[in-house]
This record gives sequence, C-alpha cells and structure tokens, in this order.
Amino acid sequence: MRRIGVLTSGGDAPGMNAAIRAVVRSAIYNRVEVLGIRHGFQGLLEGDMVPLGLGSVADIIQRGGTMLFTSRCEAFKTDEGQAQGVERLRAAGIEGLVVIGGDGSFRGARALSQRGIATVGIPGTIDNDIPCCDTTIGFDTAVNTAIEAVDKIRDTVASHDRVSVVEVMGRNAGDIALHVALAGGAESVLVPEYPVDLDDVVARLYRGLERGKRHSIVVVAEGTLSGPEVAAYLTRHTGFDVRATVLGHIQRGGAPTARDRVLASQLGNLAVQRLLDGATGQMVCVRDGSLCAVDFEEVFQGRHTVEPSLYRLVNTLAI
Ligand code: ADP
Ligand code: F6P
Repeated sequence: MRRIGVLTSGGDAPGMNAAIRAVVRSAIYNRVEVLGIRHGFQGLLEGDMVPLGLGSVADIIQRGGTMLFTSRCEAFKTDEGQAQGVERLRAAGIEGLVVIGGDGSFRGARALSQRGIATVGIPGTIDNDIPCCDTTIGFDTAVNTAIEAVDKIRDTVASHDRVSVVEVMGRNAGDIALHVALAGGAESVLVPEYPVDLDDVVARLYRGLERGKRHSIVVVAEGTLSGPEVAAYLTRHTGFDVRATVLGHIQRGGAPTARDRVLASQLGNLAVQRLLDGATGQMVCVRDGSLCAVDFEEVFQGRHTVEPSLYRLVNTLAI
C-alpha cells in the first residue's frame, strides 16, 4: 500500500486531531503517503483533499475540533454517492482509508469497503455509544468539560438554595449523563436506558430536604426529556426554586484530556497497521482493556448499553 486517506465524519470530538496525527505519522513511518480528505464524506464527493506531511500535523495533538473539518452528508447514503466516492478515491490513488467518527460514519466506511476500498474505522464521538468498544475518543474530555460546568453550577445553586437541572449531550446514550452525575455528586439522574420517573425525582428532593439538604443537582441526558421540560415539571410539583442549564456544544470543544490523546494515538497507529496488514471493514478499539480490531458487521449487530452498576451507584450515593 503506497497511499492512504484519512477523514473525520459526523460530530467532531476532542482527540480527533490526535488520531489524525497518529495516522499520518504512523503511515509516514511505514513509507506510506497520506491524503487528508476535508469535510468528511461531503469532501470526498467533491474531491477536497490535501497531502499531509509530518509537519502538517505538528502542534495539533492538544487541539479540540478536527483540522480536517467534518460534515454530515446525506448524499453519501445513496448508491450514486458511494460510487462517486470510490471513483474519487481511485482517481487520487488512495488504496486504504481511515474513517474517524461514530457508527453512522462506519456505515459509510463499510459501504466503501464493500465496494473494494480497504477501510478501517476509529471510534470518535463524545457520546460513547458505539458497541463492542470500552470507550470512544472524546468521551473522557466531554465528561470532564461537563463536570467543570456542574461544579460551577453547584456553587451558585448552593448559595441560593435552588434545584439545578443540567441537560447533557449523548444522543440516545446515557453515558455522559451517568458519568457526570456520579463524578459531580448529582442527586438524581435521568438516562434513556432506564424508565424516566419524575415523581421519583420529586420524592428524592423532598427526602433530601427532610435531612436539611436545600439544594440539588439533577442531571438529564438529552435522550430523555429536555432540561427545561424537567425544570418546568419540578417547578409545578415542588416548592423549590428551579433553574435549567443546557450545556450543549460546549461539551464538544476544548483540549482533549490526556486519556483521549493516548487512546487516539493508539487507535490511529493501529488503524494504519491494520490497513498495512490487508484488513478492511473493521473498527479498531479498546475492548475489555485490550487494543483490538472488530468487524463492522459485529459492531452493527451489537448493542451499546450503559454500565448498570454505575446507574445503581449514582442512586445509592444520592440517597
Ligand atoms: P456519527 O458518525 O457520529 O454516528 P452520523 O450518524 O451523522 O454521525 O453519520 C455521519 C455521516 O456518515 C452521515 O452524514 C453520512 O454521510 C454517513 N452515513 C451515515 N449513515 C450511513 C449509511 N447508512 N450509509 C452510508 N453513509 C452513512
Ligand atoms: O454525536 C455527538 C453529538 O454532540 C450528540 O451528543 C448530539 O445529540 C449531536 O451530536 C448534536 O449534533 P449537532 O452538532 O448537529 O447539533
């Protein structure tokens, strides 16, 4: 293999740049050229490519976002779009492609693999919602960003004897919410994987009040209800002064944590190794603590779940 491509797709995640750097440096180490495809699959359709040398990925390991830009591209879900993508790759002499993104992006990667382009995926999304892998690039940073915000919110909530409802991202997964609730000492958490019981949240607030607890934090995963909806319910059904904060895209930005940089570096390197070994149609990841590659088919058949013991622990510690 003499030339590979790399692109980022779907929502950006902190650590994507570290993964791009690892792909580029590992490839060049093995005397393989790299073309960066900008703006994800949309850029692939438009032939938006730049050569990436050693220097082009200098000083990006600490930066959030993605230097290759990203996009969501409906056209790539069609047969015509995928055929055009293959044509572009062949015309550019790209024999293997690394796709950094979530499971949607992996479906695009699988389509290319089925059409004869060797393709390996790297899990990059703050949501941590990809089956078969322990954690995704960006998740640790997003949780830490959200925790910093929750700590600040707690200062003001405590000063005013208020209840604060904090909505976090995660799409249909409750991982960010659970980790933020546990690490932020939240009094209640609502995640899509468990029944949403607002009366239980109310009961917990009153149980806390009986013990002299006059302020509380309720963490809500966006895949359940919106923060303002939950705040409105608590206002209607309690005597508490309630405020809602939607953390939003702040969770996607910022410098990646050391953990995300290490993970991104390992996975970027492994993705190149897999391509050089002739693999295709796989995701590289850490699974049960070990670096490995998993066929896309297994990923798509799998189901991501939150760790039940974490959910129980949040509720145990927030009695
Ligand atoms: P993520 O990769 O974070 O899950 P999306 O689900 O938005 O994000 O997917 C990113 C992009 O991947 C889509 O905009 C589209 O270009 C491509 N993609 C998603 N699903 C498919 C599919 N079934 N077939 C081909 N490409 C897809
Ligand atoms: O997948 C990452 C994510 O940030 C989700 O947590 C969220 O639901 C979604 O993307 C937001 O997408 P957009 O950037 O298009 O608003």
